[in-house]
Amino acid sequence: MSFLYLIFATFLLASIVLLIILSKDPKNKNLPKGSLGFPIIGETLSFLKAQRKEQGAKWVEERVSKYGSIFKTSLMGSRTVIIVGQAGNKFILTTNDDVLAAKQPPAIQAVGGKNNLFELTGSRYKLIKGAMISFLKPESLQKYVKRMDDIVRNLTLEETRETDTIKAFVFMKKLTFNAACDILFGIQDEFTKEKLFEDFTLAFKAIWSLPLNFPSTVFRKGLQARSRIVDRILPILRKRKEEISAGVTDPKSDVISCLLALRDENEELIDEGTIIDNIVMLVIASHDTTAILLSLMIWKLARDPEVYKRVLEEHEEILKGRENGGGLSWGDIQKMRYTWRVAQELMRLIPPVFGSFRKALRDISFGGYVIPQGWQVLWVACGTHMKSDVFDRPDEFEPSRFESLSRPIPPFTYVPFGGGLRTCIGNEFARVETLTVVHNLVTGYKWSQLEPEEAITRQFMPYFSMGLPIKIRPRKSS
Ligand code: HEM
Ligand SMILES: *[C@@H]1O[C@H](CO)[C@@H](O)[C@H](O)[C@H]1NC(C)=O
Repeated sequence: MSFLYLIFATFLLASIVLLIILSKDPKNKNLPKGSLGFPIIGETLSFLKAQRKEQGAKWVEERVSKYGSIFKTSLMGSRTVIIVGQAGNKFILTTNDDVLAAKQPPAIQAVGGKNNLFELTGSRYKLIKGAMISFLKPESLQKYVKRMDDIVRNLTLEETRETDTIKAFVFMKKLTFNAACDILFGIQDEFTKEKLFEDFTLAFKAIWSLPLNFPSTVFRKGLQARSRIVDRILPILRKRKEEISAGVTDPKSDVISCLLALRDENEELIDEGTIIDNIVMLVIASHDTTAILLSLMIWKLARDPEVYKRVLEEHEEILKGRENGGGLSWGDIQKMRYTWRVAQELMRLIPPVFGSFRKALRDISFGGYVIPQGWQVLWVACGTHMKSDVFDRPDEFEPSRFESLSRPIPPFTYVPFGGGLRTCIGNEFARVETLTVVHNLVTGYKWSQLEPEEAITRQFMPYFSMGLPIKIRPRKSS
């Protein structure tokens, strides 16, 4: 009996080992070169260490020079193929999602909800995205420039009333959150906004935490915050629904209304759960990204007198040309060309999003190599942003490279907003917001960095290690 058992156990063990070997090492396939590092953790530690020092580009470059522009590694517990360069970006960003699926880490899925845009595919994905774009496209955003300007002016006044020392990044988070609540969701009530902000702050921490659902973990607190967010938004959603059917709210007035008015191919309304997941997702996608770009602008303008001077000139010119009493207009935004090129150049050198993952749903080949089913695929912005065959002297800050008509930027090389099928749909919103904030700051205030040596550290997104403390005063009194 025990002998039989031993044979059985040996057989079982052998087949498990064989299965592991077969599944983990597809021998007869031509895999990309590269190192999978240690078991399970792979090269995660060295990758994260490089990220923390904002040297992710160097980490990638070292491997590219060793193995070529497609290489394998192992990150966050998954075998990963990183592909750099224009052709690689195009391949990853335009391959259909039934082959290369968008894939977020488990913690983002849990906090964002299972029906958020990042998780959706096929016709459902197109439907929800279409409704969001109907609000986020330039033609519809034009109407909100004045409101954005009011929000920015009021909040900046309030923030600087009592003190001249603020943490710019913290303030930018507050500002972008308020603008998103007000303009994207039509939520104006101060108390609601404040409570939502507290809970979203907890939810944000959970996104980058280990998904361990035990009492008092960061992850658990994030999930609890998410359920409070749902409880708070649900009544707003239902009230809005009534207002739309009573005809007192325009179904195009914000993203929530656009989603509420939406009908699928069977003429059915979209369920509340899906709408809520996508509201949460929009906050996740827009909040840190835009606050980071704004902080980079504040940082650059404090450090580079030449850039500051040109930006100031551009905005004073706009002030002069403005009709008496008229607020900031869409036309004014279009005139802020140099300012936007500064933002573009900052996003080239310090991309707010390092890159993003896809997952191979079946074996797929690129450049003569096989990417096996189940592996992660990662595109990275630095793989083209820092290449001298795409950008002359890539290490130098040169906003004019974005105005050169003789040398336009080739497609899929400048990718701070991604590209192809899942290009950022909030890029225009981010542009309007960034330009409005810079306009208000440059024309109304003067500021300087309190910690000029402050480092930039990355957790996939770049953060100022001290929150970018600045001294800021109204311009007139200085
Ligand atoms: C400077 C600010 C921003 C940056 C750098 C940025 C960057 C990106 C990038 C790189 C992607 C593509 C991810 C991928 O390929 O997997 C993306 C997607 C997305 N972004 Fe942004 N984003 C910004 C602001 C915003 C804002 C303000 C919103 C919303 C109002 C937004 C909403 C989205 C959404 C919904 C997607 C997913 C699109 C899809 O899956 O089809 N983003 N963003
Ligand atoms: C900005 O402040 C002014 C004056 O206090 C107020 O009338 C206006 O409603 C505020 N606007 C916004 C968008 O908060």
